[in-house]
Amino acid sequence: MKIYLLIFLATFAICHKLSDFGAIIDDPAYSSVLTNGQAFEKALLAANSSQNDKTVLIEANHTYHMLPSNIFYNLQNITIKIDGSIIAWEGDISLWPKDETNHSITLISIRDSQDLTFTGSGLIEGLGYRWWWHVILIGDDNRPCLLEVRDSANLIIENLTFSNSPEYNLNLRNIKNGLLQYLNITVDVFGQQKLLSEYGLMYKNFVPTFPLNTDGVDISGINITIRNSTIICFDDAVAVKPISGGSSNFTNCTQNILIDNCYVKYGVGMSIGSVPPHLNCNCVKNITISNIYFETPIKAIYIKSNPGTKGTGLIQHIYYENIKITNALMWAVYIGPQQQHQPHGGADTGCSFFYPLPFTECPTNPLVTFDDVALINVEIEGGVFSPGIILCNSTNPCTNFVFQNVTAKHWSVVPYWNGLHCENTQGKAIDSKLIPDCFN
Ligand SMILES: *[C@@H]1O[C@H](CO)[C@@H](O)[C@H](O)[C@H]1NC(C)=O
Ligand SMILES: *[C@@H]1O[C@H](CO)[C@@H](O)[C@H](O)[C@H]1NC(C)=O
Ligand SMILES: *[C@@H]1O[C@H](CO)[C@@H](O)[C@H](O)[C@H]1NC(C)=O
Ligand SMILES: *[C@@H]1O[C@H](CO)[C@@H](O)[C@H](O)[C@H]1NC(C)=O
Ligand SMILES: *[C@@H]1O[C@H](CO)[C@@H](O)[C@H](O)[C@H]1NC(C)=O
Ligand SMILES: *[C@@H]1O[C@H](CO)[C@@H](O)[C@H](O)[C@H]1NC(C)=O
Ligand SMILES: *[C@@H]1O[C@H](CO)[C@@H](O)[C@H](O)[C@H]1NC(C)=O
Ligand SMILES: *[C@@H]1O[C@H](CO)[C@@H](O)[C@H](O)[C@H]1NC(C)=O
Ligand SMILES: *[C@@H]1O[C@H](CO)[C@@H](O)[C@H](O)[C@H]1NC(C)=O
Ligand SMILES: *[C@@H]1O[C@H](CO)[C@@H](O)[C@H](O)[C@H]1NC(C)=O
Ligand SMILES: *[C@@H]1O[C@H](CO)[C@@H](O)[C@H](O)[C@H]1NC(C)=O
Ligand SMILES: *[C@@H]1O[C@H](CO)[C@@H](O)[C@H](O)[C@H]1NC(C)=O
Repeated sequence: MKIYLLIFLATFAICHKLSDFGAIIDDPAYSSVLTNGQAFEKALLAANSSQNDKTVLIEANHTYHMLPSNIFYNLQNITIKIDGSIIAWEGDISLWPKDETNHSITLISIRDSQDLTFTGSGLIEGLGYRWWWHVILIGDDNRPCLLEVRDSANLIIENLTFSNSPEYNLNLRNIKNGLLQYLNITVDVFGQQKLLSEYGLMYKNFVPTFPLNTDGVDISGINITIRNSTIICFDDAVAVKPISGGSSNFTNCTQNILIDNCYVKYGVGMSIGSVPPHLNCNCVKNITISNIYFETPIKAIYIKSNPGTKGTGLIQHIYYENIKITNALMWAVYIGPQQQHQPHGGADTGCSFFYPLPFTECPTNPLVTFDDVALINVEIEGGVFSPGIILCNSTNPCTNFVFQNVTAKHWSVVPYWNGLHCENTQGKAIDSKLIPDCFN
């Protein structure tokens, strides 16, 4: 009997509920979102310093509107279980908290930490709609992400729904040992009208917009698996990035990443990069992307360099296996310089979004090496334009490309009929119906 009572009490003690730290439910007022940010911070620090109660709980059926109170450092062995909802504050953009470089702080932001788990059946909602319009109309681009983890080891993120981030949904940099699974990442340009009105924040004359930079997961690091997730986000579903500055204590090259069993809709690719050259050599290698179904992607297989005149970059051992791509809106396969042209010219890479239309250009960067890239069992069906394009530089051609069992059932005539155009690429095709036109 005593033992049962002890177990009962111990079970009760497990978890720091947000409401126990003064958080207020269902209230989008400025004072409440500040209070809730502070409650989250207190719960996090209490869980971190507790011996046996290492969980922060966002309770089921509870909705907390929140602004970030801080960036958190040096957390050890804690679980953040979100069964309810965290909703980003939707008030005046200029009041969003900034870091010391005047950049908007991500809604949940953790650095230099170990053994973190984010789990639960809940939702982190960014209400990004008005941030997207702010960038398009005003050009001032200083948006928060939903979840950021940097320079941390042993990270698990599972089961949660992330939606409508103002910028990237998950921004994970320099991670050692990561597991992301059963995630649902959605950007819904239409649904927010209903959502916003539910919180009394109805925008009159609602017009859907093309959200910019609403990537699903941006990630760099070593030994990471991302699997069994759904990503509908209008930009890179996953973008595998080099280590910032070309070096870290974990690894100098982003490597050993497996992305498996995911469904992607309206995405701009399961992407590698972009990789600009760097004096320390920016590097991404040994990445496997398998069992992915892309529906109406803007791009699907996307490997991209970025401009730069100093140092080098390396993109090597990249494998796409068992991929299905239906009705691509632009390119099913695009390998070359990042095609980017943003409003107000902020991050123009020189490679036109409309390349290869007449009077457009797309300069390649010989400082970034592409080597050992394989497409195996790739099926492309339908699509507005031809299946794809591979653009490399004659002074540093792409090497060791393999197309094995790649098919395209396609009816487009522009710009390359049912073909895949390539320049300065050495590779071979094995049992493949789709053969890049520069392979010998
Ligand atoms: C978290 O707990 C660890 C010990 O488990 C401690 O070293 C660290 O300083 C704590 N972090 C914070 C932010 O209090
Ligand atoms: C982490 O916390 C759990 C309890 O939640 C405990 O069992 C485990 O030993 C801790 N691990 C480390 C490395 O402190
Ligand atoms: C921070 O950025 C805002 C615009 O986002 C600008 O108005 C303000 O002057 C900046 N502050 C500093 C200290 O740079
Ligand atoms: C996460 O989702 C998986 C698959 O649906 C399920 O098996 C698992 O129990 C869930 N974990 C938690 C902590 O809810
Ligand atoms: C993902 O989340 C969105 C928004 O909450 C929801 O509409 C959708 O049904 C979810 N999808 C899956 C596969 O759980
Ligand atoms: C990454 O995983 C490999 C294979 O399991 C292991 O040998 C290596 O030590 C890991 N690297 C790091 C930095 O943990
Ligand atoms: C992931 O999904 C695949 C295909 O649905 C399934 O076979 C596999 O068991 C799942 N993996 C995990 C870890 O749940
Ligand atoms: C390596 O870790 C040390 C101590 O934490 C830190 O001061 C240093 O900046 C780190 N180096 C890199 C390249 O991240
Ligand atoms: C990264 O590169 C630096 C400089 O070459 C080297 O000192 C360091 O050991 C490397 N770090 C790792 C984790 O390999
Ligand atoms: C490449 O990455 C995979 C994980 O996707 C890992 O199992 C394998 O050991 C890595 N290969 C090398 C040579 O490190
Ligand atoms: C190849 O690189 C050189 C040097 O950057 C550049 O001048 C040239 O335009 C590039 N070629 C192509 C086809 O992009
Ligand atoms: C070729 O790929 C298709 C899927 O695109 C797959 O169904 C088929 O089994 C593959 N053929 C071989 C020989 O692996």
